[in-house]
Amino acid sequence: MPSNSIDSLLHEERRFPPSENFTSQAIASQAIYDEAATDRLGFWANQARTLLHWHKDFSETLDWSNPPFAKWFADGKINVAYNCLDRHVQAGNGDRVAIHWEGEPGDSRSITYAELTVEVKRAANVLLSLGIGQGDRVAIYLPMIPEAVVAMLAVARIGAVHTVIFGGFSSESLRSRIDDASAKLVITADGGWRKGKVFPLKGAVDGALAGKKSTVGNVLVVRRGENVVDWVDGRDRWWHEELASADAEHEAEAFEAENPLFILYTSGTTGKPKGILHTSGGYLTQVASTHKNVFDLHPESDVYWCTADVGWITGHSYVVYGPLANGATQVLYEGTPDTPHPGRWWEIIQKYGVSIFYTAPTAIRSFMKIGREVPNGFDLTSLRVLGSVGEPINPEAWVWYRDIIGGGTAPVVDTWWQTETGAIMISGLPGVTTLKPGSAQVPIPGIKIDILGEDGTRVDPPNGGLLVVSEPWPSMLRGIWGDPERFQETYWDRFKALSGTKYFAGDGAHVDADGDIWLLGRVDDVMNISGHRLSTAEIESALVSHRIVAEAAVVGAADEATGQAVVAFVILKSKQAKKQTTDEAVAMLRSHVAEQIGAIARPKQIFIVNELPKTRSGKIMRRLLQDVAEGREIGDTTTLADTSVMQIITDKMK
Ligand code: WT7
Repeated sequence: MPSNSIDSLLHEERRFPPSENFTSQAIASQAIYDEAATDRLGFWANQARTLLHWHKDFSETLDWSNPPFAKWFADGKINVAYNCLDRHVQAGNGDRVAIHWEGEPGDSRSITYAELTVEVKRAANVLLSLGIGQGDRVAIYLPMIPEAVVAMLAVARIGAVHTVIFGGFSSESLRSRIDDASAKLVITADGGWRKGKVFPLKGAVDGALAGKKSTVGNVLVVRRGENVVDWVDGRDRWWHEELASADAEHEAEAFEAENPLFILYTSGTTGKPKGILHTSGGYLTQVASTHKNVFDLHPESDVYWCTADVGWITGHSYVVYGPLANGATQVLYEGTPDTPHPGRWWEIIQKYGVSIFYTAPTAIRSFMKIGREVPNGFDLTSLRVLGSVGEPINPEAWVWYRDIIGGGTAPVVDTWWQTETGAIMISGLPGVTTLKPGSAQVPIPGIKIDILGEDGTRVDPPNGGLLVVSEPWPSMLRGIWGDPERFQETYWDRFKALSGTKYFAGDGAHVDADGDIWLLGRVDDVMNISGHRLSTAEIESALVSHRIVAEAAVVGAADEATGQAVVAFVILKSKQAKKQTTDEAVAMLRSHVAEQIGAIARPKQIFIVNELPKTRSGKIMRRLLQDVAEGREIGDTTTLADTSVMQIITDKMK
């Protein structure tokens, strides 16, 4: 969202107080804000003990003696998978459905907690038999099928570390992540269903492992697409065959609260994705607590659905760990929203009686575009809480979501957080907060957020600045895999000298007179495309890796549907430039980026130019290119080495 839209946003005057009806049965109340305000660490300790089972209780809540390296509940012992499975069965809820799975072609499967527990135990035994143990990394590259959840929990159960790689990422992206994490095992599928077709996955794994020495010893392959796959004898094994012969008994061992749980790669300001490390006890505490309070989860009666893929942090925290720790019944859907018809999501909500629904603004905007007739054709009256995540939701989309999907009554919670924060940090609480469309509103209980000026001092509301988290939180990232310096520099150095160890989120924000927070988008070279993070540098390096490209600059340009869209400016090598038409070059480069990174990174537009705007020190001024891409008047060009460059570029684009 361009920052100049803030003025019109702040004139948003619609307010949605909770109904008495809702408040009277709500999980959250003012009391949890009060509790956390009185004793922040006591609040988190209490959440940890009431929401989770500890094999061994902890004596210290937070160890912050060596910032920014935090330890939460350090001497406590816990098993994450046990918390998501066995204890629900032991509590008599084994027959409760954990997952209503809906395949894209229309096949479906409902799996109870008892069944899921047995599956995970078998899978854990398979992992052990393949030599995987505590601390080993396992790469997971799967479609949205129950086996993705089973695989993650099986890895967690034995104290190993998963790194889930989104199925839309290319072989190249897969290779770099497998290498960075030194994974010993890859769990994949033959293929999965998307847009009415089977898309192959196993081939990308073969490609990623081909032609070099790798740490990967085995590849476990789930059969889903039934497409033909190549097979490497000795390395590759069918998941169903291994599970069928595995023991259904496995006792969950207790691990230290800080035992690594997963690494998830996300884009930063440089080309190389960062392996964000999350650990066990603190992470599970905050995802369980927020999942319960922010979505008002009543596990015995609600049917919850989060549409995120498990390849993203939202899928980790609010498809796998939060809902299962809370014993929720949820929907898992394999495919796209419009296959085989544009009402597929609403049909699923109607079929399972979904009561809590969590999705992204980009999806809501695309449904708005198609029109209310589609959702109006389905019974959505089961919905009572709606959530939004990934990017700012504009007030019009917020109100449409509440009215058309939520029947004019369901509260919409706009949840701000990041891969790094692990769990929701800013959001209203349904039943408590008077909601304000367009604002993510206030930090959840136990979280301390500030908006700082460039000089590191807190701005007086109403005012804008940079968003920081001022105190450590349970689900905070514990580091960047293999790169403690980058961890320090990226997140903690920005305000260190000015105001102490505060977490710099990379987002601009405005705080209004009521103290409500409005997110204004990234302030660094990170783009947000449909709620997915991509760095300009990552796409630039993919572009320059092509033989015809001499130089490239990428910007995120405001886009109605996807929030931002990738726009690239490319200088071709002069000899190569003559060999094809501009259209051919553009088409070639768009597919090259998709091959290198994945389809989500494919530039929406590529402009072939002769020059790029640079400062005298040679830094590309992306701000000016963004002005061009967004069709705006070009900003201050006085620091350009050659001030005529922008004129040449704009002329070229006419
Ligand atoms: C970035 C984090 C958290 C899961 C999805 C994205 C943006 C996220 C919101 C929101 C405004 C938001 C921020 C943030 N963002 N949620 N409710 N309002 N912006 O996770 O890929 O790590 O991206 O997404 O810019 O920094 P991610």
